[in-house]
Amino acid sequence: MSNTIYGAAAAAERIIELLDQRPLVAAPAKPRPLERAVGDIKLRQVSFCYPGTTREVLSDITFDVPAGTITALVGMSGAGKTTLTKLLLRLYDPTHGGITIDGHDLRDLDPRQLRNQFAVVLQETLLLDETIAENILAGRAGADHSDVVAAARAADAHEFISALPEGYHTRVGQRGRLLSGGQRQRIAIARAMIRDAPVLILDEPTASLDAAASDHILGPLRRLMAGRTALVISHNLLTVTSARQILYLDHGRITETGTHAELLAEDGQYAQLYRLHVPAHTTTA
Ligand SMILES: Nc1ncnc2c1ncn2[C@@H]1O[C@H](COP(=O)(O)OP(=O)(O)OP(=O)(O)O)[C@@H](O)[C@H]1O
Ligand SMILES: [Mg+2]
Repeated sequence: MSNTIYGAAAAAERIIELLDQRPLVAAPAKPRPLERAVGDIKLRQVSFCYPGTTREVLSDITFDVPAGTITALVGMSGAGKTTLTKLLLRLYDPTHGGITIDGHDLRDLDPRQLRNQFAVVLQETLLLDETIAENILAGRAGADHSDVVAAARAADAHEFISALPEGYHTRVGQRGRLLSGGQRQRIAIARAMIRDAPVLILDEPTASLDAAASDHILGPLRRLMAGRTALVISHNLLTVTSARQILYLDHGRITETGTHAELLAEDGQYAQLYRLHVPAHTTTA
């Protein structure tokens, strides 16, 4: 038993450390109320260093994401794309400059109300060892079963879920290991659908999938983005060509901005990246 006791003591220490963590951002004393945002986002001269470091990973970033439109963020690994999404969710505050949603500085809002405005789909989805229905409900507690099914249908997940032995009541196993990568991402999309948030952040949602599985979630992703403000990060440049604007991020700075056609015509870094990813015979599309 002594092995178990030592193991449990070490685990308990780690849990206590976690419980002792304090958020890095401060909640305002008198937050401005924000029920449901329209989703108009503006960044002004935003610079950022991670706490305890002196290297700027974002420098002088200024752009708007008009409500209901899609903005794509592309650039090399380490350019700062994910960091930018962390600032939008206010996991950190900018070192300089500011970010507003519907005209409110993020620092003036209640962090919980701010995060209610967002749905997020990441490269790897955190699924809990619960039933499929409960994993979708994690997007909006209290939704009813017909909402769960509607969200799963919109995410092209209803069919595979119905084919499982216990349907929506099938447990997914630790980290969802009983499902394939593509199935997990469709659950994540259903979860974001049911959340029905005005702003969507997609950070490499297809990156962990093979080409076929990745193709299968493009339709659901488009349905999810329809009518919402969306910030999309993707190495799969075919998914960003229809964005209202594409921002090319290079070492924390925006070096190119425009539509897909404009950036191809500019023949700069974006055009180079695009040619690298998309075979020559399709670049004229
Ligand atoms: N928690 C952290 N503390 C310190 N530096 C960090 C932290 N997270 C990321 N960085 C650094 O910030 C820079 C930007 O990282 P970020 O994850 O935003 O890049 P990215 O554009 O999302 O890259 P990728 O395409 O590989 O996902 C990198 O140099 C990275 O090493
Ligand atoms: Mg990233």
